[in-house]
Amino acid sequence: MEFMKTRHLIIDSATAFADALGAAAAVLRAGGVVAVPTETVYGLAGNALDENAVATIFAAKQRPSHNPLIVHVANLAMAKRCVEEWSEGADQLAANFWPGPLTLVLPKAAGIPDIVTAGGPTAAIRCPAHPFMRKLIEECGFPLAAPSANLANQISPTTASHVLASLEGRIPLVVDAGACGVGIESTVVDLAGEGWRVLRPGMISGGQIEELLGTPPRAADAAGAALRSPGLLRRHYSPRARLHVTTWGSARELEEKAAGLGVPFERIHLLVYEQVPSENQFGRVAVIPRDPEAYARALYAELHRADEEGASVILVEAPPDSGAWEGIHDRLMRASAQE
Ligand code: TXA
Ligand code: MG
Repeated sequence: MEFMKTRHLIIDSATAFADALGAAAAVLRAGGVVAVPTETVYGLAGNALDENAVATIFAAKQRPSHNPLIVHVANLAMAKRCVEEWSEGADQLAANFWPGPLTLVLPKAAGIPDIVTAGGPTAAIRCPAHPFMRKLIEECGFPLAAPSANLANQISPTTASHVLASLEGRIPLVVDAGACGVGIESTVVDLAGEGWRVLRPGMISGGQIEELLGTPPRAADAAGAALRSPGLLRRHYSPRARLHVTTWGSARELEEKAAGLGVPFERIHLLVYEQVPSENQFGRVAVIPRDPEAYARALYAELHRADEEGASVILVEAPPDSGAWEGIHDRLMRASAQE
């Protein structure tokens, strides 16, 4: 890929919002791609109905062509135009959780190019809540395909500087609206076929979906989740540092665990919410609140920072076990996967 200058437009006023909207819409209408804020993570957007624009997204991210993209819509009417069959379950979920961090997988409409869905029969649809992203889709009038705005297999960006660290020189424009409010990617629910199933956990939990739909999820099919949703391949969302999720009961136990890692203490970063060591011999001790929403909002920024600061290991105090934390557990599990 040829190096290009990446413009960085910061939204810090109503005028700047309007300017960024005009600039981003112009690039998108011309078939280009732009990095834009959403409430979950920053996305790399292109016209979902234009295969060349979508091919540019895959190239900029170096994303394997077998991993399909989420199609972002401004409203229910646009969502329905992207699918072959809308369902009652989709109606209920959309009424409750849209706009928001929930993606629905449904049989795709003929007008959605195969490159978007990686050749598959279904499309993943999301109506985002972020005011800039919503306005941008309305302004364009077409749905936007947008994966997270990072090189394949890196941690998703929750700030514009994360985007630039990964894609500077590979994209023409990043729109900067500050840090993302949710902080981890949307929950992906498969509604194609019988019943429903969570393909990728997120801040909207399986329990919330079950409560709303009134039926339990269907059992995982024999082919396994990874084939249905390639983003579920284990090695994904990984920092460069090794990540371990663990617990310790005392300062002494923590010290023993850290010593067993075989790297100097200053190359170890801690991510804790409760077991805050009183003496800090570590490279960094990041304290995140014991609140799943605040934790999710801060998580990727802490992982990015550990990488920037050259951590060899990130030791994470295991978060609580409840539905509200399932998206966080999922991302920590992936970030700690060795392959
Ligand atoms: O919050 C989000 O979902 C963010 C923002 C930008 O909207 N987007 C995002 O996109 O995380 P991406 O491409 O990084 O992850 C999309 C996930 C992948 O795991 C992909 O495999 C899955 O959604 N996916 C996309 N289309 C699918 C389909 N038709 N069937 C099953 N899974 C699909
Ligand atoms: Mg991604």
